[in-house]
Amino acid sequence: MKGIILAGGAGTRLYPLTIATSKQLLPIYNKPMLFYPLSTLMLARIRDILVISTHEDTPNIMRLLGDGSQFGINLSYIVQERPEGLAQAFTLGKNFIGDDSCAMILGDNIFYGNGLGRKLAAAEKSTENGNASIFGYYVEDPERFGIMEFLRKSEGFEESVEVISVEEKPAHPKSNYAIAGLYFYPKGVSEMAEQVKPSARGELEITTLNEMYLQQGRLQAQLLGRGFTWIDAGTVDSLRRATNFVCMIEQYQGMTISAPEEIAYRLNWIDDVKLAESAAKYGKSPYGEHLRNVLEGKIIL
Ligand code: G1P
Repeated sequence: MKGIILAGGAGTRLYPLTIATSKQLLPIYNKPMLFYPLSTLMLARIRDILVISTHEDTPNIMRLLGDGSQFGINLSYIVQERPEGLAQAFTLGKNFIGDDSCAMILGDNIFYGNGLGRKLAAAEKSTENGNASIFGYYVEDPERFGIMEFLRKSEGFEESVEVISVEEKPAHPKSNYAIAGLYFYPKGVSEMAEQVKPSARGELEITTLNEMYLQQGRLQAQLLGRGFTWIDAGTVDSLRRATNFVCMIEQYQGMTISAPEEIAYRLNWIDDVKLAESAAKYGKSPYGEHLRNVLEGKIIL
């Protein structure tokens, strides 16, 4: 399975923060925003990842992430000349995806929760049967997101649901469950994306693509319920909440989260030597210190 991080857009909702830099390079507490979506794709065991960004921002993102070898992965880059919608990622990435299935995560989306890896594995598995997968998360401002209407398949804490409809930023939302910015598609997604028509606001909407899978009976969904946190860090307020959240988790748990080098090390994608190189590169920062603690076996899980 391939992976795409979509890190385009002008970030106008964050002006003046994003006049001279990319939204996805802004800090979420102690690390650049991009480390979080990158960690999520790595937790899904995805090692071939395409980063899509703007002409101006791509060189800076490359300076941060390089070719991915320090994370034991292969990173490639492509420029999205104009932000014409999320579904465009799959036509831009057509050669990269080839005949594979593909997950996409938005560069400003943060996912956190114990058991996330299992949910990602289930979504990946469903692509093998030709299905796409989305994730629903309860929000109080559903007008701001893609929204899914669904039926519960069973009682209790069952988190897999049957999608009835999907709608992009509806004026009258049919539910309070936002479609989070992480999508899994089976092979053939580029050909499907080529058929997406621009919406009223002129964008190739990811929700239109999801609706096409729904109409073919090929859209599955899981809920990210209690115990999971999802933050779209694309506004001034949500950026602050994301920083507060990561800061709080790291202080209570006493350790760094979403460190791609650590994930790579735990998955045996990099060895001690590579981890030590990264730890040295980050020097005396808390992040560098965390990697040294991992290397010395002080932190086991
Ligand atoms: C995009 C999608 C929307 C989704 C959201 C998640 O919206 O269009 O369906 O719910 O990301 O972050 P945007 O944040 O680009 O307005």
